[in-house]
Amino acid sequence: MQNIVFDKDFLWGCATASYQVEGAIEEDGRKPSIWDTFCSQDGTIMNGDDGSIAADQYHRYKEDVQLMSDLNFQAYRFSIAWPRILPEGRGTVNQKGLEYYINLSQELHSKGIKVVATLYHWDLPQVLQDEGGWAVRSTAYAFAEYAKVCFEALGPYVDQWITLNEPFCTAYLGYLQGIHAPGIKNPQQAYNAVHYLNLAHGLAILEYRKSGLKAQIGTTLNPSLPRPASRKAEDVRAARYARAIFTDVFLLPLVGKGYPVEVTQDMHISFPIQSGDMQIIAQPIDFIGINYYMERAVVLDESDLFLHREVPSWQRTTNQDWPIVPYGLLRILKYFDTVTNGLALYITENGCASDDELVEGRVHDHFRCDYINEHLAACKQAIDEGVNLKGYFVWSFMDNFEWAWGYSRRFGIIYVDYESQERFPKDSAYMMRDIISGYCEY
Ligand code: NOJ
Repeated sequence: MQNIVFDKDFLWGCATASYQVEGAIEEDGRKPSIWDTFCSQDGTIMNGDDGSIAADQYHRYKEDVQLMSDLNFQAYRFSIAWPRILPEGRGTVNQKGLEYYINLSQELHSKGIKVVATLYHWDLPQVLQDEGGWAVRSTAYAFAEYAKVCFEALGPYVDQWITLNEPFCTAYLGYLQGIHAPGIKNPQQAYNAVHYLNLAHGLAILEYRKSGLKAQIGTTLNPSLPRPASRKAEDVRAARYARAIFTDVFLLPLVGKGYPVEVTQDMHISFPIQSGDMQIIAQPIDFIGINYYMERAVVLDESDLFLHREVPSWQRTTNQDWPIVPYGLLRILKYFDTVTNGLALYITENGCASDDELVEGRVHDHFRCDYINEHLAACKQAIDEGVNLKGYFVWSFMDNFEWAWGYSRRFGIIYVDYESQERFPKDSAYMMRDIISGYCEY
């Protein structure tokens, strides 16, 4: 048994994303995003689910903020839906859309909860996809325009900004594997997306610095650092390849180190770089957010597009077959600490899906409690080893629309009964309450 105690200024938060929790997709001027379109296509989402109602947070945000407050949370990370703010992707601003996020932020502040806003958590306005989406350069500029609108209107309410959430997923799941919106399977479009997402981030940072706002701004990645399955030099190289294509293509340009040679030379991948782009991408930022869920093992495979292949893991898995490897989080934190030279880091997401059962108003999700605690121990160790880790946001505050898995997977520390939209804190929610208060023995 141990009592993992964090410093008093460590920030404890919970997280969600617009399309996953809001619902109200046709209200107050919102126009379709690529996820509305994707969900309407046959066979894309488990059980034919979509985010049209989701957890109805658009109408129930006050109740949700009250719950966050009851559980001692100090910060709420949510995302702003671009199609609510600029329903046509650019141009006319929809005041009603801005008002929703102002109201939500004021409600949070009235309970002393910090506002952490992500600008892009995957719901691109469909009209921009019709022009080519992230595979074309103009989308990066549309994003900068959208970011500027948000900075101007929401600047007084937001305590911490995040430009993009997991560009890895947008580029590779959306444009290579086609399992996320917009459902494209085209490698070159995916590489374009990598670069234009990086550029979009940099352009938004430039806008932010011009705005004169003082809150911190950064971005969120979901680093993948697979371990080599043997000590053989070729498998060590395979792990480097995986890190290069999945993590370094986003991380290294941020810190001015450009695209990794493993990708540009060994994989013969080219990015549509124009002069000045890499300087824009490398604008100084205040922190990096890390989303962490799992780690896998790899071996070299020269027949693979990315020169490596996954091999089976032995660890316990979640109900999505994701191997639970808390130590992997420590490795990532130390890698980021080294590459960024001690930049502030936040865990902006960590958590798991589990087979939760609601019985007489309670959910005894000890599987999730263990998962969270084991990862917090890794965070604590990282801090003890000198990593500048500033906070932890559990994913997720509540059960929600888990993308291609629909509602079949529950990540919340709050259980949502989707029939009645009633909320029930799970045991993990009460555990978080105690951890935040500094009294939790594990
Ligand atoms: C990361 C994503 O940011 C979030 O939207 C998703 O629900 C979780 N991973 C769990 O898969």
